[in-house]
Amino acid sequence: MRKRIIAGNWKMYKKMGEAKAFIAEVKGRLPITAKVEMVICPPSPYLSELVNESEGTSLKIGAQTMHDVEEGAFTGEVSPSMLADMNVEYVILGHSERRQYFNETDESVNKKVHAAFAHQLTPIVCVGESLEEREEGKTVERVSSQVEKAFNGISADQAKAAIIAYEPIWAIGTGKTATSEDANEVCKEIRQEISKLYDESTAAAVRIQYGGSVKPENIAELLSMEHIDGALVGGASLVADSFLKLVELA
Ligand code: G3P
Repeated sequence: MRKRIIAGNWKMYKKMGEAKAFIAEVKGRLPITAKVEMVICPPSPYLSELVNESEGTSLKIGAQTMHDVEEGAFTGEVSPSMLADMNVEYVILGHSERRQYFNETDESVNKKVHAAFAHQLTPIVCVGESLEEREEGKTVERVSSQVEKAFNGISADQAKAAIIAYEPIWAIGTGKTATSEDANEVCKEIRQEISKLYDESTAAAVRIQYGGSVKPENIAELLSMEHIDGALVGGASLVADSFLKLVELA
């Protein structure tokens, strides 16, 4: 039985005061242990503060990206060891916005997945097709290739601990959600790709989230699907009430 996971990707939103107020509100309403894994991925300047604020609760903190090397002359970057040092537990890798605006490639994502595991960070590896690829019938080809490349050289045990987020690019922030059947179909293909790369038990263990305009109104249906184990949520994770609602519905 795979544990469900709801992760909020705040992207480049909120000021520090708002971020702390969100955590204060959410933590007062959370059980100490929960059957759903809950993660908030704030902008990097807030990571340390939010790890402290959420200590002792079931809410975990993740980063939205990182570099793949320890240290060096890389102006503006954050290293995996810095995240580990701050007790950050998760890191989103290869989000389509990083691929589109910051030149992340399948190869750089793969290096980051290796770096995440080297520092005991759980990677949330994002894959997804563009509208054009979907219309050309290339969704499965695209997504399977992203998975194959991201997991190159990763062991089966590591793969079992990874999280994959299927986010069709055309559904991000647009209000358009993939139908739950379509999303499930692609998540099933992702699981099959993991089975091909490793084995069936690895495929059965890996958790796959759907992302793209997830909100309290559509999460239950998405999560009722066999291959969808959670959600990576943008806009709807910014408001404490709606984040808590998503967790409750999961
Ligand atoms: O990573 C989450 C994301 O890209 C989806 O954003 O706003 O459509 O939920 P949103």
